[in-house]
Amino acid sequence: MWPALQAAQRQRGQTGKNPNVGAALWRHGRLVDVVATGDGGRPHAESQLNILPGDVLAVTLEPCAHEGETPACARLVADARPSKVYVGCLDPDPRTSGHGLEIMKEAGISVQAGICEHKARHVMAGFLTRMIHQRPHVRLKLAMTRDGRSALADGRSQWITGFEARQHGHLLRAEADAIMVGAATFIQDQPTLTCRLGLSGRDPEIFVLSGREEISSLPKNVQILGTSGGQQDLSQILRQLAQEGIGNLLVESGGRLAASLLQAELVDELYCYQSDLLLGANARSALGALKDQELLLPKGMIVKERRQLGQDQLTRYVVER
Ligand SMILES: NC(=O)c1ccc[n+]([C@@H]2O[C@H](COP(=O)([O-])OP(=O)(O)OC[C@H]3O[C@@H](n4cnc5c(N)ncnc54)[C@H](OP(=O)(O)O)[C@@H]3O)[C@@H](O)[C@H]2O)c1
Repeated sequence: MWPALQAAQRQRGQTGKNPNVGAALWRHGRLVDVVATGDGGRPHAESQLNILPGDVLAVTLEPCAHEGETPACARLVADARPSKVYVGCLDPDPRTSGHGLEIMKEAGISVQAGICEHKARHVMAGFLTRMIHQRPHVRLKLAMTRDGRSALADGRSQWITGFEARQHGHLLRAEADAIMVGAATFIQDQPTLTCRLGLSGRDPEIFVLSGREEISSLPKNVQILGTSGGQQDLSQILRQLAQEGIGNLLVESGGRLAASLLQAELVDELYCYQSDLLLGANARSALGALKDQELLLPKGMIVKERRQLGQDQLTRYVVER
């Protein structure tokens, strides 16, 4: 399953409404092809393979069972007669869920599902969260000093962290369908929010969350998200993004929006990049006030990873569902 998972990972944020499926094919014990869903969601991974009878196929998501603009992948696989198919996880789309496996089993193929399922769910989290919870998978990114500050009192905040941490942040942009920032961040920092890793076509869509009807000198590629006036209902905003096909959302906000999202339990992964700087109590806090404070991690979150990135440290928190 690993080559298939890696191929799926590379297409994260690139496949629109369709899942970023990876597939790998073995013939006589040798790996002969590795593919993933194409940019924009077509072609599907399985349809790119030349499967011969007796081959072994690994695919990160159950092959689709419904005929659309293209034939069902489960039928294509069944007709090609591989001897064995390994599947990462089931497709929650009711048109496929379980039916894809049945089609292949009825053709006499040995099918085993749930292979590296946890990793497959992580790699395709955008599609799965959109299907199951009708909202995008949310990654919140915070860059902060050792004392939890994100900007000087006057709002200056550039380069809290060093090169390696910023490059890692660009990797998160490459894997996102869209970035959402708070209006205050957008107005003060005028960030470009592009993916500067030298990869073409990896810039996500950009949304600014705001209750304002307009924001002056808004670039053409940036859209305002929200209805007029006041704090926005974040569940509603995320539902709207999911309906537009956004599965992988990266939030690069200031402290207020970050706190609102955490408070509403709408963050799936939190990336904290922490430098050795100390800015003191006059500087702005990276995280706004949280109500009902306890000496606990945000509800449901665990620390999944700690890593040194140059001079800075990354702590990755995840919600285990
Ligand atoms: N170090 C970092 O990682 C990092 C990243 C980004 C920003 N920053 C810094 O953070 C500072 C700005 O942070 P901030 O906390 O003042 O603002 P923010 O979180 O970026 O944006 C807050 C704005 O979002 C809009 N909003 C709408 N609904 C909301 C909701 N439910 N909850 C929260 N906000 C909602 C409101 O805009 P309207 O008033 O228009 O309705 C609100 O004023 C800047 O100095 C920036 O440089 C640091």
